[in-house]
Amino acid sequence: MSTAPLLVFGAGHIGRAMAQSALAAPGAPPVHVVTRQPDAPDGATHHRIDAADEPALAALAKTLPEISGLLITTGTLHTEAYAPEKTLKALDPQAMAEVYRVNCILPATILKHFLPRLPRNTPAFAAALSARVGSISDNALGGWVSYRASKAALNQVIRTFSIELARTHPQARLIGLHPGTVATPLSQPYRGTAPTVFTPAESAAHLWRVIEGTTPEHSGNLFAWDGQHIAP
Ligand SMILES: NC(=O)c1ccc[n+]([C@@H]2O[C@H](COP(=O)([O-])OP(=O)(O)OC[C@H]3O[C@@H](n4cnc5c(N)ncnc54)[C@H](OP(=O)(O)O)[C@@H]3O)[C@@H](O)[C@H]2O)c1
Repeated sequence: MSTAPLLVFGAGHIGRAMAQSALAAPGAPPVHVVTRQPDAPDGATHHRIDAADEPALAALAKTLPEISGLLITTGTLHTEAYAPEKTLKALDPQAMAEVYRVNCILPATILKHFLPRLPRNTPAFAAALSARVGSISDNALGGWVSYRASKAALNQVIRTFSIELARTHPQARLIGLHPGTVATPLSQPYRGTAPTVFTPAESAAHLWRVIEGTTPEHSGNLFAWDGQHIAP
């Protein structure tokens, strides 16, 4: 087992649960958590960094010559300043740019700095939390244009970087993950009719199973919590 650390970006509800689950696994590597928050789960090494601060990301990457895995759990759907759009009239360009920045540009920047830190000659993974609603072919309802478009763009980033990764790190895979509907503040106003709502710990357990079940042949794709492939 490698002693190179697992690097987790984001200490939101699902991110924390995934880090805690990794920390509890027997023989697991050390866990480093990068977050804007003042604390990280007990047992993790805490890096208080905003992923928008690219020089800070570059400095962190210098201190971590190798990582065994990379997990990006950041993302946004609503804040006090914006909410998912019901109609095209609701589109606010500034809000759309912010959702795009958080959901696509931040993960892309993290991948830029930390995909090269995966080992070149042993199996390793990188994964980012995306969302099923980022699937263009699955979009039958409309609405939520900023969130949908930003997650579709993230899925394209994942596909694009997976191709480059395969050339330099043939044993690594980079995948997107849909965590299901999870009881967190992010989904709280919108999960009324969801048939199943997971706790963050339940979703984390599912997502770790999906990560462990993937190989480099799966790289570049989006998978749901139950392992199902989600078409782009
Ligand atoms: N909950 C669901 O039902 C559901 C369903 C589908 C997909 N997802 C996806 O799962 C991921 C995690 O969701 P969650 O429910 O765990 O949400 P959450 O508890 O609200 O966590 C949000 C995470 O995103 C980061 N973040 C939010 N705004 C940011 C900003 N402006 N700049 C930098 N970082 C920011 C936070 O970083 P800090 O750690 O620095 O605070 C936090 O780690 C998201 O990508 C979401 O789209 C969730």
